[in-house]
Amino acid sequence: EKPGLELAVVSVPSYACQRHTPLLHHNTTLTDALSILAENAELSENEGRGVAFRRAAALLKSLPQEVRGAEQLRGLPCLGEHSLRVIKEVLEDGVSHEVETTTHSEQFKAMKALTGIFGVGAKTADRWFREGIHTPSDLQRSGHTLNRAQQAGLQYYDELNLPVTKAEAVAIGQIVERAVHAVLPGAEITLIGGFRRGKQTGHDVDFLITHPDEGREEGLMPKVVSWLEAQGFLLYQKTTGNSYLESKEGPARPASNMDRFERCFSIFRLSTDNEGTEIQTGLRSRRGLRSRRGLRSRRGLRSRRGMTLVVVGDHAQKVSWVLGHSQCSGPRSWRAVRVDLVVSPYSQFAFALLGWTGSKLFERELRRWAVHEKAMTLSSHALYDRKRTQYLRASSEEEIFTHLGLEYIPPCDRNA
Ligand code: CTP
Ligand code: MN
Ligand code: MN
Ligand code: MN
Repeated sequence: EKPGLELAVVSVPSYACQRHTPLLHHNTTLTDALSILAENAELSENEGRGVAFRRAAALLKSLPQEVRGAEQLRGLPCLGEHSLRVIKEVLEDGVSHEVETTTHSEQFKAMKALTGIFGVGAKTADRWFREGIHTPSDLQRSGHTLNRAQQAGLQYYDELNLPVTKAEAVAIGQIVERAVHAVLPGAEITLIGGFRRGKQTGHDVDFLITHPDEGREEGLMPKVVSWLEAQGFLLYQKTTGNSYLESKEGPARPASNMDRFERCFSIFRLSTDNEGTEIQTGLRSRRGLRSRRGLRSRRGLRSRRGMTLVVVGDHAQKVSWVLGHSQCSGPRSWRAVRVDLVVSPYSQFAFALLGWTGSKLFERELRRWAVHEKAMTLSSHALYDRKRTQYLRASSEEEIFTHLGLEYIPPCDRNA
């Protein structure tokens, strides 16, 4: 009489890269609970524990129906003792005590708020937390010296924590395309990350850039960044050159998770004029505000919709403002959006595409499968066969799955 008992006899493969994991699935109550515990473990820098919870959640996401009772879980892989305990609790009581305690804990809330600042990782956040800094406002008041990324992260905190919509991703894509084609006609731009997996929102927008004539892509990023900066599209950027060739990362060494492509981590200034979507932003005192309207103002003081704005700096085309009021909100014609740009040589494109489409767990599982099941090393640059001692070429993701002896999983089913 319990529907879905047959789940127990269905055999489910244990690597997430062997399974189809759609974005929408049947067990969100359970996976939400496990995700909180995974997040907490990651914030506590307990990577192993985090991965265990992520694997358990991913298994549940791949099931064809809702789990209603613990007996349906018999024989399923990836469910450790701790995860099983949490799942059973949620199935029986609707909530897990440990999850509740975690979500309400001061440390978890503070670590989430602080790592929610662009440029702040778990180590830094933990150090600040132990100094009594629990919120971005606390940090601002603390007078700590922040690096450029963290300053931008604090300045645009609220906006960067608003989800980026698909429409905004498309709009950013058009800007990136204009920039890239202005400096390198014939270059190809691909939307990667969560949006390629079919997500409707994201924390950022990710693009992969390449050119069919290998070598033409070299040194592309600084030119693209200059173009974007000249047009006023960038609020922040940090560009890193390609270090793949100089790296000592030969086939003998396992590739690190971090790839070595030329890349740019940035914050875009996206105009919201066209869509008429004006965001309400809670602006704090002393928080810098740069606006297009500001460019039209030449004098030190201007009143805009009841706010008093004071010019405090004039860097080339941009004008910085400090709000005269401590709290105010009002419509603005643009928002800040995190954007990641990656440049790949054409011969590595398929590997870069596979490596940057995610999800993070799916990528991790692919590399684990390669090493443990195939004696191969997979990175976003290449696939190396250790038994045959040779690199395996591929010009599509399908070919990489074939090399790995895996059924092809399309991007929309990589939401592990
Ligand atoms: N990635 C990477 N190296 C980094 C950062 C990210 O290889 N330094 C890869 C991740 O493994 C992931 C992809 O880039 O596969 C996208 O990462 P990210 O933007 O963080 O996550 P998304 O899946 O796009 O999720 P979201 O929608 O929240 O942005
Ligand atoms: Mn979920
Ligand atoms: Mn992303
Ligand atoms: Mn990203």
